[in-house]
Amino acid sequence: MKVSIIGAGYVGVITALGFGELGHEVMVMDQDVNKINQLVSGQMPFYERGAQESLQSNISAGKVHFTCSMSDVIEFAELIFLCVGTPPLDDGSADLSAIESIARTIAEQATSAKCLVEKSTVPAGTSQWIERTLRLYGRNGVTFYVASNPEFLQEGNALDDFLNPSRIVIGVKDDYAKDLLLELYRDLDSPKLVCDIETAELIKHASNSFLAMKISYINLVADLCERVGADVRTVAYGIGLDPRIGSNFLNAGLGYGGSCFPKDTKAFVHMARTVGLDFSLLERVDLINRSRVDVILSKLRATLWSLKGKRITILGLAFKPHTDDVREAPALRIISKLLDEGAIVSAYDPKASHNARGAMIDLGYDPSEIRFTADSYEALEDSHALVIATEWPDFAELDPDRIYKLMRTPIIVDGRNLLIDKDLGNCGFEYYPIGIAK
Ligand code: NAD
Ligand code: UGA
Repeated sequence: MKVSIIGAGYVGVITALGFGELGHEVMVMDQDVNKINQLVSGQMPFYERGAQESLQSNISAGKVHFTCSMSDVIEFAELIFLCVGTPPLDDGSADLSAIESIARTIAEQATSAKCLVEKSTVPAGTSQWIERTLRLYGRNGVTFYVASNPEFLQEGNALDDFLNPSRIVIGVKDDYAKDLLLELYRDLDSPKLVCDIETAELIKHASNSFLAMKISYINLVADLCERVGADVRTVAYGIGLDPRIGSNFLNAGLGYGGSCFPKDTKAFVHMARTVGLDFSLLERVDLINRSRVDVILSKLRATLWSLKGKRITILGLAFKPHTDDVREAPALRIISKLLDEGAIVSAYDPKASHNARGAMIDLGYDPSEIRFTADSYEALEDSHALVIATEWPDFAELDPDRIYKLMRTPIIVDGRNLLIDKDLGNCGFEYYPIGIAK
C-alpha cells in the first residue's frame, strides 16, 4: 500500500521505516528542510538502534521517500498519517496547532479521497475538530475519513516495538477506514483492537498516564524504604509477582523524563478538566516525579555538605538509555540545580552530549560552564562525587579501582541503582542508591 506521513520526528521516521519493512511504499513530509535533506542523504536525524541500517535499506529498495512539499505528500497516498509534535502549552494542554494547520491544508488541496490518521498523541475529541476543519475548508466534494491509530513505541527500542507492538489500536467511525488500516497492518500478528475514535484517543493518554503513575508510586515507596529500612528492589519484585500489578515500570530512581510522560499526564489532566472532571491524581504524579531530582541533590548535600566549588560528575544525559533524546531528561535538571548552587559539573553520555549542550543553552545556561568529556573516566577526574543519571549498560562495566583512583572523594549517588550489585563499599566508595536502606 502507499502511505503518506507528515512529521519526520521520532514517530514519523520510525513509522515510515516500519511500514517500509512491511513492504509498503511511504512518503514522509516535514517542514524542517535540514532534517529532510539529511534523511534524503541516508542519515538518521537522531540515534535509534537499527534505524540507520533500516533507513539505508528502505531508501535503496525505493520504499521510503522524503519531501518538504505538502502537495506531494497529499497527492502521494490516500492514507495520510499525522505524526507532528503535540507539545504542551503553558496551561498544560496539548498544542494542536500543527494538526489544525495540516488538516486545513489537506482540506484545501486534496483532489481525491483521503483518510487522515492521528498517530500523534492527542486528547480525546481531537478527531471531531479535524472532521470539522475538513468540512469547513474542504469544499470541492472530496470525501474525507478520519481515524486514530496511536503509537506505543518506546524510544531505544522503537523499530522493534513498531514491528512487534503489544497491540494495534484502530479507532474508526466507518468500515472504509477500518478496512484500510486492517489491510495496512495485515502482516503484523499483534492483537488488533478496533473501537471508536474517542476510545482510541483515550487509550493512548490513559496508557502513558498509568505508566507514569506506576513510576511515581514506586518512587514514593522507595523513599519509604529508605526510612523504614527496606529494599525497594525486593518490594517491587514482591508486588510485581502479583499479575494484577505486573513487574514492569517499577524501577525506582530519578523518575521519568522524555517528550511524552511529562506532557501527556498534563494534557490528560487538562482534557479531563475541560469536561468537568478532576484528575488531579496525575498532578501529584507529576509533582512526585519532579521532586526526584531534589532527592539526588539532598543525597549529595548530606555527604558533601556544601556543593559550592565541588566537582560533580554526571554520567548519562539522555532521558533513558539507548537514545540521544534529552527532552525533559532529569540529568539536565540536576545539572541546572548544581550550577545554581555553584558546583562545577563534568558530564558524559555515549550518545546525547551534543543534544544536552543545546538543551542547556535553551535552559539559559552557558554550556561552556559544563565540561562535556569524551568518555566516563575523563569526566571523573578529580571529582568529588559521581551521579548516575541514566542507566547506560556501559556505565556498569566501568572499572571501580580506576574510578577510585581518579576521584578526589569516592562518593557515588546512583540515581538508577545501576551499580547496586558491585559491592562498591568494599572498594572504598561511599555508595548511595535509591530506596535501599544503608
Ligand atoms: P518530534 O518533535 O520528534 O517530531 C515532530 C516533527 O513534526 C518535527 O520534525 C517537526 O518539524 C514536524 N512538524 C511540526 N509541525 C509540522 C507541520 N505543520 N508540517 C510538517 N511537519 C511539521 O516529535 P515525536 O517525538 O516524533 O512525537 C510526535 C507525536 O507522537 C507526539 O504527539 C508524541 O506525543 C507522539 N508519540 C511520540 C513517541 C516518542 O517516543 N517520541 C511515541 C509515541 C507517540
Ligand atoms: C513511553 C511509553 O513507554 C511508550 O509506550 C509511549 O509510546 C511513549 O512514551 C510515548 O508516548 O512517547 P518512552 O518515553 O520512549 O516511552 O520511554 P519509557 O521507556 O516509557 O521511559 C520513560 C521514562 O520513564 C524514562 O525516563 C525512564 O527512565 C523512566 N522509567 C521507566 C522509570 O523511571 N522507571 C521505570 O520503571 C520505567
